Amino acid sequence: MADTEPVAIVELGVNDAPGGFALSTEARWNQNEADWRFFLTNGIVFGVRDGTHLVATAALLPYSAGNAWISMVLVTERWRRRGIATRLVDACLDAARQRGLTTWLDATPAGATVYGPLGFAPTLQLRRLRLEHSTHATSTTLANFDIDTFSARDRRAMGFERNALLAEFGARTGSRVVSCGNAMALVRDGRIARHIGPLFADSAADALMLANAISQSESGPLLIDAIASQEQFIVGLTGAGWNIERPFQRMRFGRATAQSEELPFAVAGPEFG
Ligand SMILES: CC(C)(COP(=O)(O)OP(=O)(O)OC[C@H]1O[C@@H](n2cnc3c(N)ncnc32)[C@H](O)[C@@H]1OP(=O)(O)O)[C@@H](O)C(=O)NCCC(=O)NCCS
Repeated sequence: MADTEPVAIVELGVNDAPGGFALSTEARWNQNEADWRFFLTNGIVFGVRDGTHLVATAALLPYSAGNAWISMVLVTERWRRRGIATRLVDACLDAARQRGLTTWLDATPAGATVYGPLGFAPTLQLRRLRLEHSTHATSTTLANFDIDTFSARDRRAMGFERNALLAEFGARTGSRVVSCGNAMALVRDGRIARHIGPLFADSAADALMLANAISQSESGPLLIDAIASQEQFIVGLTGAGWNIERPFQRMRFGRATAQSEELPFAVAGPEFG
């Protein structure tokens, strides 16, 4: 494809997982190939190729009750600022419109510059935090938690169910769903760090106790995407050695259809909501 030619947008299949993984790795994101296979199997993923080489992607992941997540909006460095991300997100919005879906996304600051002009409105904010290794000693013990009860709590927080996603996460090698007291969280593998979330609890103190117990039980680096308004939780995490890496802006296109009954402390990740 010459630099001046208009680009063709194609729908991708599960064989594109390695190409998608190369793009998210170039952006230094944490997704692994299992994440890409989930999007390519359960979602509608659009892409742009240069010859056989995948140079851009965007995914629409339908959930339930008329809601969907847009994510994996990636354009390789050389093909940026030619309107490719805008066209790919437009393709996702068209697919959503045809299916009557309200779309959500968690935008990086660069992404928000693309989505604002398309009509996405900001909702809540997230903060990504990273812990290199735990120095926090705790005597709290973790119990394994049942995925069905965990999914029911997730439904209260999201306002719609996403059981298929959580069941797939829970079934992956290396994943665990753990609790202490009334707090519960899912921990899963990522490319560069293990990821904690979603995390639900009745109070910031309980959420923090669980996050500390998890970090104590893990040996490598960890990531968590906390809801920014859970300030006490974030203050507690930074006090325990976590560093804030970047913000994400949650945005919605279309009318609100979901009624959340509780605010989680951390989400499943900006790519999944
Ligand atoms: C963000 C990203 C997807 C944009 O892709 P792109 O194809 O270059 O985007 P577009 O060409 O469609 O940009 C549309 C508009 O968004 C704005 N924009 C895009 N990238 C921008 C940047 N880095 N800085 C400021 N504005 C930017 C501009 O207004 C641009 O219009 P213009 O080029 O006419 O000025 C790409 O930079 C990327 O892959 N970044 C790393 C991954 C990432 O952050 N993805 C977003 C996840 S939410």
